[in-house]
Amino acid sequence: MHSLRALSTILFAGFAVQTAGLGFISKPGMQVKPYKRELLQDIVTWDEHSIFVHGERVLFYSGEFHPFRLPVPGLWLDVFQKIRALGYTGVSFYVDWALLEGKPGSFSAEGIFAFEPFFEAASKAGIYLLARPGPYINAEVSGGGFPGWLQRVPGIFRNPNPAFENATDLYAKSIGEIIARAQITNGGPVILFQPENEYYDCLDWVDPCPNPIYMQYVEDQFRDAGIVVPYIVNDNNEGNFAPGTKAATDIYGIDNYPLGFDCGSPYTWPANALATYLTETHLENSPTTPFSYIEFQGGSFDPWGGWGFQQCLELVGYQFERVFYKNNFASAVTIFSIYMTYGGTNWGNLGHPGGYTSYDYAAVIKENLMVDREKYSEAKLEANFVVASPAYLTSVPANLSNTSYTTTSRLSVTPLLDDESDTKFYVLRQSYGSKTILIVYGGEGEQHELAVSNGGEGTLSEGDGVQMGKRNGATVLNWSTSSSRRVVQLGCGLTIYILDRNSAYNYWVLKLPNENGLYAPSGQEASTVIVKAGYLMRNATISGDTLNLVGDFNATTDIEVVGGAPNNLATLNVNGQASEFTQDEYGVASTSVSFNPDISVPSLSSLDWKYIDSLPEIKPGYDDSLWRNADLTQSYNDKINITTPVSLLGADYGFLTGTLLFRGHFTANGNEEDIFLETQGGSAFGSSVWIGDTYVGSWAGYDAAANGNDTYTLPNLQSGSEYVITVVVDQQGMDENYVVGENEMKSPRGILRYRLSGHAASDVTWKITGNLHGEDYEDKTRGPLNEGGLYAERQGYHLPGAPIDSWSSSGGPTEGIDSAGIAFYGAELELDLPSGWDVPLSFTFVNSTSANAPGSSAYAYHVQLYVNGFQYGKYKNHIGPQTSFPVPQGIWDYHGTNYIAFALWSLEADGAKVEGLELTVNGTILSGYGDIPMAPMSNWEQRQGAY
Ligand SMILES: *[C@@H]1O[C@H](CO)[C@@H](O)[C@H](O)[C@H]1NC(C)=O
Ligand SMILES: *[C@@H]1O[C@H](CO)[C@@H](O)[C@H](O)[C@H]1NC(C)=O
Ligand SMILES: *[C@@H]1O[C@H](CO)[C@@H](O)[C@H](O)[C@H]1NC(C)=O
Ligand SMILES: *[C@@H]1O[C@H](CO)[C@@H](O)[C@H](O)[C@H]1NC(C)=O
Ligand SMILES: *[C@@H]1O[C@H](CO)[C@@H](O)[C@H](O)[C@H]1NC(C)=O
Repeated sequence: MHSLRALSTILFAGFAVQTAGLGFISKPGMQVKPYKRELLQDIVTWDEHSIFVHGERVLFYSGEFHPFRLPVPGLWLDVFQKIRALGYTGVSFYVDWALLEGKPGSFSAEGIFAFEPFFEAASKAGIYLLARPGPYINAEVSGGGFPGWLQRVPGIFRNPNPAFENATDLYAKSIGEIIARAQITNGGPVILFQPENEYYDCLDWVDPCPNPIYMQYVEDQFRDAGIVVPYIVNDNNEGNFAPGTKAATDIYGIDNYPLGFDCGSPYTWPANALATYLTETHLENSPTTPFSYIEFQGGSFDPWGGWGFQQCLELVGYQFERVFYKNNFASAVTIFSIYMTYGGTNWGNLGHPGGYTSYDYAAVIKENLMVDREKYSEAKLEANFVVASPAYLTSVPANLSNTSYTTTSRLSVTPLLDDESDTKFYVLRQSYGSKTILIVYGGEGEQHELAVSNGGEGTLSEGDGVQMGKRNGATVLNWSTSSSRRVVQLGCGLTIYILDRNSAYNYWVLKLPNENGLYAPSGQEASTVIVKAGYLMRNATISGDTLNLVGDFNATTDIEVVGGAPNNLATLNVNGQASEFTQDEYGVASTSVSFNPDISVPSLSSLDWKYIDSLPEIKPGYDDSLWRNADLTQSYNDKINITTPVSLLGADYGFLTGTLLFRGHFTANGNEEDIFLETQGGSAFGSSVWIGDTYVGSWAGYDAAANGNDTYTLPNLQSGSEYVITVVVDQQGMDENYVVGENEMKSPRGILRYRLSGHAASDVTWKITGNLHGEDYEDKTRGPLNEGGLYAERQGYHLPGAPIDSWSSSGGPTEGIDSAGIAFYGAELELDLPSGWDVPLSFTFVNSTSANAPGSSAYAYHVQLYVNGFQYGKYKNHIGPQTSFPVPQGIWDYHGTNYIAFALWSLEADGAKVEGLELTVNGTILSGYGDIPMAPMSNWEQRQGAY
């Protein structure tokens, strides 16, 4: 049971008028408060209540979404539309520096990493953006956004430090200029900008903390790059960088995750999690700026060995939204950004060691881009309520007795009284409009009373069981909520739909674009169409007597346009198809969409699998002459004083991502008994060791262990003979760098210590490799992190067009291997899915936690999976929890040949096989979204200098 009861209430209001869209409007007579500092532009302004855009108050109701976690530019509009359909007006996004400057001095933002398509999609959907490029972002990404080569940069990060600051310069200038071009001052969607991120936590000796000199440096970097929109800060509620302080930003905001991140006890909410003091501290910290959540909990991350996002969804699901978001509205929050709203995927090694491949985050839009019925719908009802209530933007907590609810004479406001909860709500009406719709809902069986002042006579046009009367000039309705709908027409022109919560979920408030195809931003002044449908409605447009609706359907669905259809509707198009419809005396138009899917995908076991050994390094005669000599007697990394004769740390040699391999050459003297190794790759990493082609053992790893110490018994070695020790270490990404002073991002990866019995450490000469050519990485299309150092990756065999015909035939990953090693499987897979259908696909590892694998239930093996060259999953059988790996369309070609590949690394002497592997259809949705272009692709070519 939850320790907090959900607030039961009426909370959904929308309105519809039949006039054309209005676009961006300046309100006559608007009083904008004097600014606290000189602005660099006059489009985005603010006072203590809210921001203004072009003089109009805007509720920045926003969802966090990272384009880099969805490397298919053709799907960005899909996410924006799904966020827009929630009623939100904004999106906040981070930028991951590590993906853009893989080599110091070379910044590149092209293809899947380009921002222009992201900005265009936002504009098209009518979404304003808050840009958060760091340079430090945290964000559960490798290094918290810091490129791995920063391990070689001396000194304390996120503090005044010329070497560090200098290292950020190229990135800050380059990304700053890109974002600057997309500011609203240049016609783009970016209205707010956040320098740095969550900058407040330091070790004790770091003083001052946070440091305003460093913060000013970051602010200046971006100002110099042309950022002129207001700066916002994401603080821990201590007033850092609030107006009036050193290195002040323009708008102060906070970061808050009241339920924390333990999905292990999803039914226990922490005591006192519902903060009631935030308004007060806000007034102390920053009385002149709007109460702002730059991040408010929208879900939870989950670590290796965690509970899985389904359980996180229990913890931070719709009940959480009902209680906690409403608590925020009680604080009159007007910059409200929910982290995450679409999480996405840690594809291609971009994640940090504290997380696995899925970054679903239990967000309202799932990793596979489906909307979560309960959580998404609850978020939608709440956002629609506040966005449709103009008085909200100027409301002052606990002081709602103000008689002037709005600042424009064109609007009037009706107070609504709900006797049960004693809460007041305000519904917008447009004085000049011809029709206003109010949708109210409650839980089934609840008693409700609604009073509308000067409502006039009421008639029940649908359903029964609503008592109507008059009190003090107000029309008063009483009912007990049930699943059957009631519709009341009031003499004042208001139509009231009385629903239960589940039915209310099916209603969509679709803003109409103006004559230029642009959406008015704030949600208040544009005309809307209110539609009852099903799974998802994306948009509506009206031209003359034609209404066009675009949406997605997961079943045969009745559609009712309850408000906003032209009065003498001549044509109703749904997803571009003219539909038969009827229109009743109230203007309500009805039609339906039929749903006849014909979807099938090949079974993975039917594919023509090919196999190649991906550990030729242990074979006699293997030539490692092209490998990098590990010859640095000191590390560049100042977080460690190495105790090995030479550095065996990947970043010292430019190997920053994925698997690392080491080859240690020595001449045996017959005294070797064992070898000790301390390897470090980040939480849940593993390492394996061979001498010659003899397997000596593995550190299988576990969720919490960032490093491992193991002593392995050696076979008898032939005195005087040359031997090679091969060590494979799995890098899990760099640690984040949250606490200033710890420099956690510099936690090294590789071999930290070794001892070969009977030898001095210096008897061993080492070679090292990671991804081919390190920071001069091969695959510019998929970026600097996607491929690691496995032999198959160095050869590019994960890429489409790999020469698999010359490999052995095989049963694939479910056939597996019978000794420790690394196998690589590739196959072609044809998809022929019908156009116009959204068919989310995922790879599912079946039965993997049961005792069916050789040995035990916790049989240690890793799998990396690739689709058309993109590494889209790291599966660890003995660690978990992820068993299902969604891959989006656009990485998949739904109408052609795909290349899929699996690297299987057994950390057990007797091998490993994947017990069951399926390609799963996660949903079948008739979609109005249209064609999805493939992400940029590049094919395999024989690689120069590959080894
Ligand atoms: C600053 O960076 C540039 C290249 O980006 C480099 O040439 C220069 O030496 C660096 N200076 C310091 C103090 O690190
Ligand atoms: C279809 O979508 C509706 C609305 O979101 C949901 O209630 C229902 O469970 C979905 N049905 C299927 C088969 O997914
Ligand atoms: C490395 O050694 C130097 C010299 O003894 C010392 O000042 C420094 O603190 C050491 N660094 C670490 C990370 O232990
Ligand atoms: C390995 O040894 C190091 C040094 O003694 C220690 O700090 C670390 O905790 C050990 N790792 C594990 C997983 O026990
Ligand atoms: C409505 O959505 C469809 C599908 O994404 C899109 O092609 C179209 O441009 C959108 N129309 C408007 C006005 O947003």
